[in-house]
Amino acid sequence: MTKQIRLNAFAMNCVAHQSPGLWTHPRDRTLGYNRLPYWLDLAKTLERGRFDGLFLADVLGVYDVFGSSPDAALRNAAQTPANEPLMLIPAMAAVTQNLGFGVTSNLSFEPPYPFARRMSTLDHLTEGRIGWNVVTGYLDSAARGAGKDRQAAHDDRYDIADEYMELVYKLWEGSWEDDAVLRDRTRGIFADPSKVHRIEHEGTNYRLSAIHLSEPSPQRTPVLYQAGTSPRGRQFAAQHAECVFMSGPSAKIIGPRVAAIRALAKEIGRNPAEILMFSMMTIILGRTEAEAKAKYADYRAHIAPEGALALMSGWMGVDFSSYDLDQQVRHIQNDAGRTALDNVTRADPDRVWTVREVVEHVGIGGAGPVVVGTPEKVADDIEAWFEETDVDGLNVAFATSPGDFEDIADMLVPELTTRGRYKSEYAEGTLREKLFGKGRAQLTEQHPASRYRPHRAAKAAE
Ligand SMILES: Cc1cc2nc3c(=O)[nH]c(=O)nc-3n(C[C@H](O)[C@H](O)[C@H](O)COP(=O)(O)O)c2cc1C
Repeated sequence: MTKQIRLNAFAMNCVAHQSPGLWTHPRDRTLGYNRLPYWLDLAKTLERGRFDGLFLADVLGVYDVFGSSPDAALRNAAQTPANEPLMLIPAMAAVTQNLGFGVTSNLSFEPPYPFARRMSTLDHLTEGRIGWNVVTGYLDSAARGAGKDRQAAHDDRYDIADEYMELVYKLWEGSWEDDAVLRDRTRGIFADPSKVHRIEHEGTNYRLSAIHLSEPSPQRTPVLYQAGTSPRGRQFAAQHAECVFMSGPSAKIIGPRVAAIRALAKEIGRNPAEILMFSMMTIILGRTEAEAKAKYADYRAHIAPEGALALMSGWMGVDFSSYDLDQQVRHIQNDAGRTALDNVTRADPDRVWTVREVVEHVGIGGAGPVVVGTPEKVADDIEAWFEETDVDGLNVAFATSPGDFEDIADMLVPELTTRGRYKSEYAEGTLREKLFGKGRAQLTEQHPASRYRPHRAAKAAE
């Protein structure tokens, strides 16, 4: 059977998100990011388009690498200000039945214990529609806000994250047995204390002695997303992720990353089919080629180059204020994210990028390709992209929101559905069941989290 195309929408609790300057376009409504009507409307639009999920990005610091100052980010609303993403979810869940929510939470600045409870609460309230995009951050400004001089070194962050994952797995999977909750009104017993276990953890970075504060939620562990594809990031993905988000300008760059993560997963005994790969793409549609091209040109006229530079500097850890626009971008090693800089330096030896070209590329939709045209042409391009990269889905960034998502729901989704490449209705169940099949509400026994389940933990201790 031909592979189904999955769609996530990529957004953030801020103005414009990945298209700096586009908030000035009359069609864009992201200035309403700090009130609920914008989000409720977006969620309903996405569900109308049968999107698998809304992926909410988040950063905990400002983009102040450019010119060593937050000014450019503030002037251009380059992901600054950024409101908290988790609080949006119950409201959006209340007006949808099927849309999943992949929410980004940076583990570097919050202890596992309260975080695990917040995610369990969301999994309860959404009746199992929650996912977590596990990130460790890339901005020193976030570390300074948390009272540190700078963020931990790049690979060390992943080591710390491994231990963090162990701890949240213990809380989500190991603390309450499946039949611990009785809710027995006749006997007046809520839970059987013998089936609720204290988690004891003494590790390199974390210490904890506690029972998980939430009773088991539909999925227990939220669906796990991950989005770093450096060599250490890939290892982390192969170990933990159920969905991987990637970004890169071409199929030539994305394809080998998909293959590498699948191979790594296989090496460590996980079924590669249990990891879904999503790559970033921006989609601009028109009823005719001319209409689509005109829309794209109109969008491009609203790009704020200084905002793009502020974002790029933050992602790559390079202060582009000291660069000439026609200077070539060169690779350097630092402690910001590695993939964003690799994309425009080492990842494709045949392609040299100047700063100006990166600004133009990043200006609409961030670090992925922009596909423009009629629904038929865009569907052809997407099918070719799937063929070349072997991804399972797209993480769709927008130029204007919710307008571009309305276009996708109205024009592209019918075309993909007619081609048999897109679901005609949502599958039942939790987000994990919708992604992986009925009966898969929780992680399988192959996933490392399952080793902390009480029956497995008891066996290991024998
Ligand atoms: C599609 C996509 C979305 C991302 N979203 C976030 C985010 O919301 N917050 C964040 O701190 N990092 C985010 N990242 C960055 C990654 O988590 C990671 O820090 C970055 O890719 C660098 O990791 P690497 O050096 O292993 O590639 C995202 C990356 C990608 C590709």
